[in-house]
Amino acid sequence: MTKKGQQAGSLSRRSLLGGAAAIGTTAALKSAGALEANPANLPPNVSEWTPYLGAGVDANPYGVPSEFESHVVRRSVEWLTASTESSVNFTPLQDLEGFVTPNGLCFERHHGGVPEVNPVDYRLMINGLVDRELIFTLDDLKRFPQTNRFHFLECAANGGMEWRGAQLNGCQYTFGMVHNVQYTGVKLSDICREVGIKPEASWVMAEGGDSAGMNRSIPIEKILDDCMIAYAMNGEALRPEQGYPARLVVPGWEGNMWVKWIRRLEFGDMPYMAREETSKYTDLMEDGKARMFTWVMDAKSVVTSPCPEKALMSKGTQLLRGLAWSGRGKIDRVDVSLDGGKNWQTAELHGPVMDKCLTRFTLPFEWNGEELLVQSRAMDETGYVQPTIGELQKVRGLNSIYHNNAIATWQVHADGSVDNVRLG
Ligand code: MTE
Ligand code: CO
Repeated sequence: MTKKGQQAGSLSRRSLLGGAAAIGTTAALKSAGALEANPANLPPNVSEWTPYLGAGVDANPYGVPSEFESHVVRRSVEWLTASTESSVNFTPLQDLEGFVTPNGLCFERHHGGVPEVNPVDYRLMINGLVDRELIFTLDDLKRFPQTNRFHFLECAANGGMEWRGAQLNGCQYTFGMVHNVQYTGVKLSDICREVGIKPEASWVMAEGGDSAGMNRSIPIEKILDDCMIAYAMNGEALRPEQGYPARLVVPGWEGNMWVKWIRRLEFGDMPYMAREETSKYTDLMEDGKARMFTWVMDAKSVVTSPCPEKALMSKGTQLLRGLAWSGRGKIDRVDVSLDGGKNWQTAELHGPVMDKCLTRFTLPFEWNGEELLVQSRAMDETGYVQPTIGELQKVRGLNSIYHNNAIATWQVHADGSVDNVRLG
């Protein structure tokens, strides 16, 4: 077993977590005062906030979280990104409950920054092998029949830093390139009916309106199956970071294909071999050849508490929390091990358990200060079982970056602090 950071040479825990380094250790939480209650506020006293009128209704025209939740933010890793415009940040999974990601906490991945798209000037153009080449306004899109679906979006690079060993000491950094919201929009099959697809059309090139002009090829079967153009997330307009005013939704498939600020769909009869599917988002194998078009995100899970940011604060009964998802369908079962994979217990799944959607699981356990090696293993409705990193590397070798869905291990120490470690 190697500890985090050992294979990463100069990477120290401090430099990786920056200001957030304190979060996650018992001692740090105590020194930050997070655990020190003011006796004057506790029963049977009247708390200091009770005798006075509170803030009025207009204090926050657009509501914001309590100031005591200010540590719950997206975070980025300096050395992972060349510039903030071609960058990524991470969802704070360890601080979330349920299965919905709040809009302001959805991780962001941009290749050319966030464009400021005026919805009045927004257009979606459809061209190529169709009967009628059409250009839709946002209002046109909103006049189509509506569909509402919860889906996870996971970047293919999620966990990509962990292929060769435990590197980033945090749930947020190792698993946080995933979010899960309810999308409202139009099924692409409805748009296809409107434009009329020629029989020889077999691929669609989706193109973004950002400065990266990011584009991807998608087979027509997937487009007609469950893809949609979304204009809302969690009940409100898409956030600019997530592609305002419209993005492509490609359920269960790698996040890169979910083209944001979508401006064009071209129907063709072969893949377009875009940069993002040839140079990037391919899996380099041991023999030097690269796998292409590895679109589906296989079943995966993570324990969100305890984890490096969520130390165990007391002995006795604990509630382990986690999230599981599969790009092939519904989560069927999640097992949890506290001893590095020797013994497994089945966790409780909290419904609704939906297709290609994050599923919350919990498991109560007793802790008396012993060391734990916490793991979770997801199974989906197709029978697929989340692999160990050893099993994955046997097939994929050591050159991969993308599509790491291996079981992770959190080591809980006697003082309750937690580290990301590699078993095997
Ligand atoms: N679409 C455009 N137009 N430009 C981009 O840079 N990034 C892609 C995809 N769609 C990107 C894009 C990548 S790599 C991912 S993982 C997802 O958007 C991230 O979506 P999010 O920012 O909503 O998390
Ligand atoms: Co991505």
